[in-house]
Amino acid sequence: MCGIFAYLNYRVPRTRKEIFETLLKGLQRLEYRGYDSAGIAVDGPNKTKPDINGNTICLIKQRGKVKALDEELYKKDSLDLDEELCTHFGIAHTRWATHGEPSAVNSHPHRSDKNNEFVVIHNGIITNYKELKEYLITKGYEFESETDTEVIPKLIKYVYDNRENDSITFSTLVERVIQQLEGAFALVFKSRHFPGEAVSTRRGSPLLIGVRSEHELLTEHIPIQYNSGLLKEGVQEKNSYNRSDSSNGINSVGDGRAVEYYFASDASAIIEHTNKVLYLEDNDVAVVTGGNLSIHRVNRQAGENPVRAIQTLQMELQQIMKGNFEAFMQKEIFEQPESVVNTMRGRIFFDSNTVVLGGLKDHLKEIKRCRRLIMIGCGTSFHAAVATRQILEELTELPVMVELASDFLDRNTPVFRDDVCFFISQSGETADTLMALRYCKERGGLTVGITNTVGSSICRETDCGVHINAGPEIGVASTKAYTSQFVALIMFGLMLSEDRLSLQKRRLEIINSLKVLPDMIKKVLTLDDKIKDIANELYEQKSLLVMGRGFNYATCLEGALKIKEITYMHSEGILAGELKHGPLALIDKHMPVIMIIMKDACYTKCQNALQQVTARAGRPIIICCQDDPEVTRNAYKTIELPHTVDCLQGILSVIPLQLMSFHLAVLRGFDVDCPRNLAKSVTVE
Ligand code: F6R
Repeated sequence: MCGIFAYLNYRVPRTRKEIFETLLKGLQRLEYRGYDSAGIAVDGPNKTKPDINGNTICLIKQRGKVKALDEELYKKDSLDLDEELCTHFGIAHTRWATHGEPSAVNSHPHRSDKNNEFVVIHNGIITNYKELKEYLITKGYEFESETDTEVIPKLIKYVYDNRENDSITFSTLVERVIQQLEGAFALVFKSRHFPGEAVSTRRGSPLLIGVRSEHELLTEHIPIQYNSGLLKEGVQEKNSYNRSDSSNGINSVGDGRAVEYYFASDASAIIEHTNKVLYLEDNDVAVVTGGNLSIHRVNRQAGENPVRAIQTLQMELQQIMKGNFEAFMQKEIFEQPESVVNTMRGRIFFDSNTVVLGGLKDHLKEIKRCRRLIMIGCGTSFHAAVATRQILEELTELPVMVELASDFLDRNTPVFRDDVCFFISQSGETADTLMALRYCKERGGLTVGITNTVGSSICRETDCGVHINAGPEIGVASTKAYTSQFVALIMFGLMLSEDRLSLQKRRLEIINSLKVLPDMIKKVLTLDDKIKDIANELYEQKSLLVMGRGFNYATCLEGALKIKEITYMHSEGILAGELKHGPLALIDKHMPVIMIIMKDACYTKCQNALQQVTARAGRPIIICCQDDPEVTRNAYKTIELPHTVDCLQGILSVIPLQLMSFHLAVLRGFDVDCPRNLAKSVTVE
């Protein structure tokens, strides 16, 4: 949902070309978050238009992916690429449209006026933009785009034009602006009035700042500067603002020495420059002025952490590079033997058959006493809940509800103080899931995060949780995060059932199967060529049904989601038990059907469904266990998988469908990693 990237070099000489390259590379890393248009703002040539403080800002925006922007940049003859800029601040954005179609004018950065006095990049949605826009129009401001974002640069100019004195700081202007904004945002501002200064802030959307310096940083903890209440409700008239005393920022990082700062929506865009990062909290205003970083807030709340720590990221650049694979999605599918190991590492002790999830151990008693478990997520993360519900019911002996976050909120679902609510999210930023988390928190439920992104909003706002440690997932279609969420939830069930005598045999069977799971996944991945051949037969079809039941029903939902999102074919996951209640009408010799029939408690029932399909001249492609002549006899084609314990079989059965969707998308000529209309991290409702 839009990617933000900005780069400030202070006393570090960089040519304009180097600055472009840094900004574009940052955007490319974030392109999975949105890719319908992109833009940047940099300082323009001083000589040509030295009207405000001798500065000009040059805005370059282009519809399409970052590559299109890249080509556009070098067409600007007026910009001297070799000009050296010793201190400079550049901002960049890749967009996923929410308000206004993808176009150059709707893309970011947005500007205050034709002179580009203030420019801003935004990720999120401003829900009260209509009121603000109406107000600003009455004050004579002219809007050029259809976006919600454009009110922000106009509003800051309005505050600036109505300032009470000329010593007002950039951060004060931003602090005043955000008091008027409702909704979600991560924002980075640049201004001609404040050359070489950067102001960024967030509420509900992620934003982090990387710091790089030749010198050792003077501190790893930046104290927050609290400003007393700034504003009353509503946009206010000239001179009615109180001034904050935020101008005396103390130097906490660089002490005026050469330093570079990187602002980004996530760490993948920063890690190649530095592993020292600071995550902003909601309503923090981070300011870089004179090369010094300071953090400002209005009024200290009780219990609030008064410092922001500079953390050291453990992520490696190679973890986010594509390597020899055609697409990130393909790389991530093939990473699954290692990613599931990383999820289990240091948590399952195979010699003692115990599982310790460090992030949950202090809450175990509370969890064991709870009324029910509620598992909440969206899309693939929701499917991970569906996939593990049955085994969690069996191992925990608790009722388990699985909920789509949006529907859960729509229903105002009752939540009690003795509920344990799980929030499953790869990104940890999905707006629906985050809102469901806040909803449950307000009602006193214990909140548990299952996320892949350390430092994400869901991580920070839950009471406790588990990092799935699958490594960065860049492809928009989620693959390795799903299997790691699956493993993490099963480990939770194993941890909870450790003292249940009656369940020890079952636990042992699962733990032993987890031990060999990576090898089993490797075996499934060797079927890639066979799956590609099947994809070759199917890629011109309009529709594809995926059918199964029991432990493999979630695989049907997840497989169908993968197929529809990257191949744009219609695809439906069907519960085999529902076949005769409607979907059977779709079956004939033309309708492609994939069936999952494994040797588990539903085997006979799945055989019945198979009979119903073949009796209607259906030609099923069957994902089944090795050496199953009974099934093979009735199949048009089979994809034979190694056999594992029933509750883990879904990890193996989803992989052929991940591979199938990948090959179908390639054969249909689509961009696998950037499917149309989608974004990796959906930070709006
Ligand atoms: C599908 C997919 C989405 C996400 C969903 C939730 O491949 O990736 O359905 O699973 O948008 O995202 P997270 O897990 O980040 O909350």
